[in-house]
Amino acid sequence: MKKVGVVGVGYVGLTQAVGMAQLGHSVIAYDIDVEKITKLNNSNSPFFEPGLEEALIEAQSKNLISFTNDAETLIDAEYIFLCLPTPQDEDGSADLNYLLEAVNEIKDILKPNTYLIIKSTVPVNSWKQVEQIVEREDVFLISNPEFLREGSALFDFHNPDRIVIGATTKEQSQIVAEMYSNLSTEFVLTDNTSAELTKYAANSFLAIKLSFVNDIAALCENLNANSGEVLKGVGLDNRIGNKFLTPGPGWGGSCFPKDVNALARVADREKIMMPLLSAAIESNVNAQNRVIQKIVDKLGDLNGIRIGVLGLAFKANTDDTRNSPAIEIIRKLQALGAVISAYDPAVKAFEGFEVKNDASEVFIDADLLLVLTEWAEFAQIELSSHIQNMRVVNILDTRNIFELDELKKLKVNIIN
Ligand code: UDX
Repeated sequence: MKKVGVVGVGYVGLTQAVGMAQLGHSVIAYDIDVEKITKLNNSNSPFFEPGLEEALIEAQSKNLISFTNDAETLIDAEYIFLCLPTPQDEDGSADLNYLLEAVNEIKDILKPNTYLIIKSTVPVNSWKQVEQIVEREDVFLISNPEFLREGSALFDFHNPDRIVIGATTKEQSQIVAEMYSNLSTEFVLTDNTSAELTKYAANSFLAIKLSFVNDIAALCENLNANSGEVLKGVGLDNRIGNKFLTPGPGWGGSCFPKDVNALARVADREKIMMPLLSAAIESNVNAQNRVIQKIVDKLGDLNGIRIGVLGLAFKANTDDTRNSPAIEIIRKLQALGAVISAYDPAVKAFEGFEVKNDASEVFIDADLLLVLTEWAEFAQIELSSHIQNMRVVNILDTRNIFELDELKKLKVNIIN
């Protein structure tokens, strides 16, 4: 059992804290947000993440985790994970202020031989900035990027595809790797800069993959080809892989847009041309605009047109709407005069349009049903009864949640 500290209890920090406690370590998690810490001390997760609250309660009952607003309590920690947000600045670069302020706050508290581990996604070479602030030879600076997907973060923590640990010496990275030794996975032990870059390379690669998939799906629609079958045929090539091949209304979330932009900034700075990054971003805007265009092509002037929307989160199994393509698309539809009524299993309110308590309500008097997030439960909706409440039965299912044969049987106007 190691003594672990976690600084920042957002999505990444809380998952890391609870996951570490589940691995048997003794965890103290610190955050400046008083409300968040109070909630956590009452065993309430400040956000929705499947399984996290249950795991938190269990770890608390075993006294393996505690939460505090007092940075001084980190004094006993041998390993401290820095899990601060690094939001995107106006110029596209990542804002390191939260991270650097936190480091400044705790640097003098740390015991000799503490491992200070950067979990947050930080621009390449940020570890050097952190090192300059800490200015202590007896504190070891480690870069250990997270690869957690929201909606399955705790599962991903326990079932990682790999764990990347960057350090100045192999010995340091091996010692940090031991903390995860109960997880059966591949370890990549490397230097700090390479570890930081790995995170950006992975997320940007995935974003590029999705942009390409969305463009192929659009091409399929024009050519009357079956995108599901085309992409299945593509994904069965082991070199490509069958994951991350589902087309949608564009990719979003708190990571992809930010990370692709941040990598583009690094490439610019290093004078390395990476045109795929800007192309992926452009393709993603096109994917959202294609949804608008399809609706306008079908319905013409959208002024006063009522659209029932299913899904607001940027993907299923999360309540996160940051950079959600659903929200971007809704805003564009509203700008064209459409009236929105929406439902999401996890997002219960949003400024600027009505959010209903039940999926059935968005059908009422709608001219179009628009599916924007891939919640599995949408597939269970009794379409046959609800579509009777629509003014005109148009359906645009950007996530292919509904069975096409079922839609055809119900004689709805399928927009695609
Ligand atoms: C991502 C990375 O996957 C994770 O490794 C990293 O650490 C954080 O960023 P996350 O932002 O939680 O995770 O979302 P992810 O599951 O990757 O989905 C990103 C976006 O791509 C979502 O908008 C999702 O709907 C979309 N997506 C994903 C598709 O449109 N099709 C797919 O096949 C997969």
